[in-house]
Amino acid sequence: MILNVLSSSFLVTVSVAALTVTAAETPLSPAAAFFPSPWADGGGEWAEAYAKARAFVANLTVTEKVNLTTGTGWEADRCIGMTGSVPRLGFRGFCLEDGPLGVRYTDHNSAFPAGINVAATFSRDLMRRRGEAMGEEFNGKGIDVQLGPVAGPLGRVPQGGRNWEGFSPDPYLTGVAMAETVRGIQSRGVIACAKHYILNEQEHYRNRMDVQIDDRTMHELYLWPFADAVRAGVGSVMCSYNKIHGDYACENGWTNNYLLKNELNFQGFVMSDWGAQHTTLGSALGGLDMAMPGDGGRPPYGALWGGALTEAVLKGEVPQWRLDDMVVRIMAAYYKVRTGNYTTRPEINFSAWTKYAVGPLYSASNQTYTVVNEFVDVQAGHGKLIREIGAKSVVLLKNENSILPLKRPASIAVIGEDAQDTPGGPNACPERNCTKGTLAMGYGSGTADYPYLISPATAVKLQAASDNTVFTNISGNWDLDAAKATASNASVAIVFVMAHAGENFITIDGNAGDRNNLTLWNGGDELIKAVASVNPNTIVVLHTVGPVIIEYAKQHPNISAILWAGLPGQETGNGLVDVLYGKVNPQGRSPFTWGKSVEDYGAKLTFQASNPLAPSQTFNEGIFIDYRYFDKAGIEPTYSFGSGLSYTSFSYLDINVLVQSPTTYTAASGLTSPAPTYGTLDRTAAANMAPAGFKRISPYVYPWLVNNSSLFAVNGTSISPTAGVNGTAQPLLPAGGAPGGNPGLYDVIYTVSAVIKNTGKLAGTEIPQLYVQLGGKDNAFGVLRGFDEVALEANEQKTVTFNLTRRDISNWNSSSQNWEITNKEKFVFIGSSALAIRLNSTLPAPPALNW
Ligand SMILES: *[C@@H]1O[C@H](CO)[C@@H](O)[C@H](O)[C@H]1NC(C)=O
Ligand SMILES: *[C@@H]1O[C@H](CO)[C@@H](O)[C@H](O)[C@H]1NC(C)=O
Ligand SMILES: *[C@@H]1O[C@H](CO)[C@@H](O)[C@H](O)[C@H]1NC(C)=O
Ligand SMILES: *[C@@H]1O[C@H](CO)[C@@H](O)[C@H](O)[C@H]1NC(C)=O
Ligand SMILES: *[C@@H]1O[C@H](CO)[C@@H](O)[C@H](O)[C@H]1NC(C)=O
Ligand SMILES: *[C@@H]1O[C@H](CO)[C@@H](O)[C@H](O)[C@H]1NC(C)=O
Ligand SMILES: *[C@@H]1O[C@H](CO)[C@@H](O)[C@H](O)[C@H]1NC(C)=O
Ligand SMILES: *[C@@H]1O[C@H](CO)[C@@H](O)[C@H](O)[C@H]1NC(C)=O
Ligand SMILES: *[C@@H]1O[C@H](CO)[C@@H](O)[C@H](O)[C@H]1NC(C)=O
Ligand SMILES: *[C@@H]1O[C@H](CO)[C@@H](O)[C@H](O)[C@H]1NC(C)=O
Ligand SMILES: *[C@@H]1O[C@H](CO)[C@@H](O)[C@H](O)[C@H]1NC(C)=O
Ligand SMILES: *[C@@H]1O[C@H](CO)[C@@H](O)[C@H](O)[C@H]1NC(C)=O
Repeated sequence: MILNVLSSSFLVTVSVAALTVTAAETPLSPAAAFFPSPWADGGGEWAEAYAKARAFVANLTVTEKVNLTTGTGWEADRCIGMTGSVPRLGFRGFCLEDGPLGVRYTDHNSAFPAGINVAATFSRDLMRRRGEAMGEEFNGKGIDVQLGPVAGPLGRVPQGGRNWEGFSPDPYLTGVAMAETVRGIQSRGVIACAKHYILNEQEHYRNRMDVQIDDRTMHELYLWPFADAVRAGVGSVMCSYNKIHGDYACENGWTNNYLLKNELNFQGFVMSDWGAQHTTLGSALGGLDMAMPGDGGRPPYGALWGGALTEAVLKGEVPQWRLDDMVVRIMAAYYKVRTGNYTTRPEINFSAWTKYAVGPLYSASNQTYTVVNEFVDVQAGHGKLIREIGAKSVVLLKNENSILPLKRPASIAVIGEDAQDTPGGPNACPERNCTKGTLAMGYGSGTADYPYLISPATAVKLQAASDNTVFTNISGNWDLDAAKATASNASVAIVFVMAHAGENFITIDGNAGDRNNLTLWNGGDELIKAVASVNPNTIVVLHTVGPVIIEYAKQHPNISAILWAGLPGQETGNGLVDVLYGKVNPQGRSPFTWGKSVEDYGAKLTFQASNPLAPSQTFNEGIFIDYRYFDKAGIEPTYSFGSGLSYTSFSYLDINVLVQSPTTYTAASGLTSPAPTYGTLDRTAAANMAPAGFKRISPYVYPWLVNNSSLFAVNGTSISPTAGVNGTAQPLLPAGGAPGGNPGLYDVIYTVSAVIKNTGKLAGTEIPQLYVQLGGKDNAFGVLRGFDEVALEANEQKTVTFNLTRRDISNWNSSSQNWEITNKEKFVFIGSSALAIRLNSTLPAPPALNW
């Protein structure tokens, strides 16, 4: 899209308020400005939870507090992660469990569509309902914290192994999905966890990659969806494995203290990714609140926290207020979600470490054999929702000669291993660590076991039987002659192909998490070409974790239809059949751009670091990833971000921009209260030792000192202890003030409306998308700032309205450390994809608005 074709060149002139930061009398070094770690203020919708949390924490001893901050160790208890407990008050430790698409490591649970699929629905309603359903399942197993949803990786590079666990490389779409998912999960009594915070954009070197990024890109791209999660009240955030500007994410003053807890005013707790904690003091002062899984550290504690944190607090290296803040945040998140119908905390009724009913209560120590799995069925009919999301996430990329929807074809050939049941059952490959059978989720810790899996071949065969359609089936990818022979005899041939990716503790076919390339796996491209060479009614179904190179298929005259079905979960076959046969008119829109080569994407994944022991990476592309880069570089994609066809057609009419009357934007200013403490600090060693005769489970992390005569040295930190232990009142940041940032950022400045009309013969759902051009060369041609899901009968029309908030039309100003509406000319575009713009307008400067 080229701006200078716009008829109007009306220049938006605004006076930008001087948002200067008052210079401190003694200027702090930038590093010192990121300390101390902010203590939560517990305001707004958190107030009630904070009142309960503070009362609870005031009653705890130091070791009881430390217990709630530290995991008991890898496989020590029944959940993926479990903290210590407070037996004196009958308070069980916290049970944490993967993952973002369902309960991992158990049974009788649902396997939901992956994040990338629910993003493709562009449906806030489905995002919310998926969150609610997942929350119900976690609650039903007795889990306190669901380790999801995912906004990191965002999707800087298309090969990123875990992109599918999240939503989209567009931060606005991901932000909406984060907020809806968080609200859904937490409405069912379970704490959500926004992860992985932050810039964990690739699997290669993830444990030590040091990312360099500019402040503006951080705010406008990667931090954006986390801000939405915080605004939605997310109870926990998981810091990632990588480093940012030299410091590990789990002890990073800039990302945890300054951005998350101060600017975004995050009220919940920060937990480490498993093993992402590296020091005792650095993590405590650098904003970590809960260490997971808790073990890993030198003797005598075998942990960086636990007894080591107790020591640090007793010695004053970690102030009491910092420990108190950790525990108050954790308990506040708990009380925030345990309300309404969910005040009662269910008992844990599964073990992540065994499939049998009876097993060890303490797995790592192989002791206390008892009933650990009660096989509680938590599915509650969620299969119906899974099928609906599966169908509504299918992106119809190509549909020539109206080949779809299918109408009782005489014969149909289903071709490719990706259509088939997995030999040995759907869970035959642990954590989906293979490419056998149909692909319906990626691999690694973001998986859940399937209760059942309806393969595409099974679902198509069933439909064929009811239509008297002759069904044939080729289940392998490699016998191209057999594929051709079967395809040439069928009126319609559907080829199923896949591309897998996941977490780097698993390597499949040489792909260590990240994809090595953007072509199909298992000879998929050759299979498609072979089938298309003999059948003019070839339909291609893509089960891929992200974009693949399919320009040849787009151009191929015999390939009549292409559908991206993504990773739809347990009902994959049924959802697909709903679309193929027109029971659901496709509404899926691509949540990413389809390039013609990997180079088209600009940003590069580092497969081979020049210094593998200390790899470093600079996000030089800035905000220009995915569709923003394609447009900037003038590259035409195969299919653009937001594109997808329907079985009907829509027209767009009457764009109308209304200026609202927002209040003046006020930079947050002033000071916090001084750091509060709760309860007393009994420094005597005896008060911090295990009770006489206490029987330890070994290995197990405890909060007690091991020795009453001397305190052991703890692992140090490179940060300034003076700034880190400073409990006096601290300045608020101008862009801060409330969860999600300055409340004024969410004032509606414009409402933009348009009329969408169904001009075809079938009912269907259109996804109008609103893009804003913020002006100037530093900005993309447009950034997504609104979308809607509009269901229309044939000939029906509806007016859609988009709210544009102050944040939506602002850029980050690094020197004022605030958002600002620049005086550059701004435009708004409404379209059916990032490239198919139907309507546009300038954004007029509202008279008398004091920016
Ligand atoms: C802590 O709770 C116990 C039991 O409810 C109570 O007896 C005690 O007074 C409380 N202590 C403090 C310091 O609040
Ligand atoms: C800490 O938690 C462990 C495990 O739940 C428990 O055995 C221990 O008694 C707790 N310690 C304190 C001080 O409550
Ligand atoms: C899980 O098991 C526990 C302990 O048996 C029980 O209290 C709880 O109700 C169970 N949850 C469900 C959903 O049945
Ligand atoms: C402290 O932690 C760092 C980082 O993990 C490690 O390199 C160092 O060896 C540790 N020091 C001690 C004294 O354990
Ligand atoms: C509690 O559950 C009941 C029965 O399912 C439902 O009608 C009600 O809306 C729920 N209340 C809340 C606050 O969720
Ligand atoms: C764990 O304990 C059980 C029961 O005591 C025993 O049969 C089994 O061999 C033990 N497993 C290991 C790995 O030690
Ligand atoms: C497809 O063919 C394979 C191999 O011949 C067979 O095992 C499988 O059951 C067939 N699938 C269906 C749905 O008939
Ligand atoms: C998948 O997991 C199984 C069981 O742990 C293992 O035997 C197999 O080697 C794994 N495959 C891959 C590709 O990691
Ligand atoms: C891309 O990777 C997949 C999976 O490893 C492999 O099957 C395929 O052959 C590769 N493509 C090329 C062009 O090397
Ligand atoms: C503590 O923080 C306050 C507010 O930022 C600052 O004025 C003061 O100098 C700090 N004190 C120390 C000892 O760093
Ligand atoms: C737009 O914002 C107004 C006021 O903030 C709100 O009432 C309305 O629901 C919003 N509309 C949409 C479509 O988000
Ligand atoms: C903007 O809309 C006008 C018609 O109102 C059209 O002429 C122009 O091409 C459009 N520009 C873009 C970039 O879509």
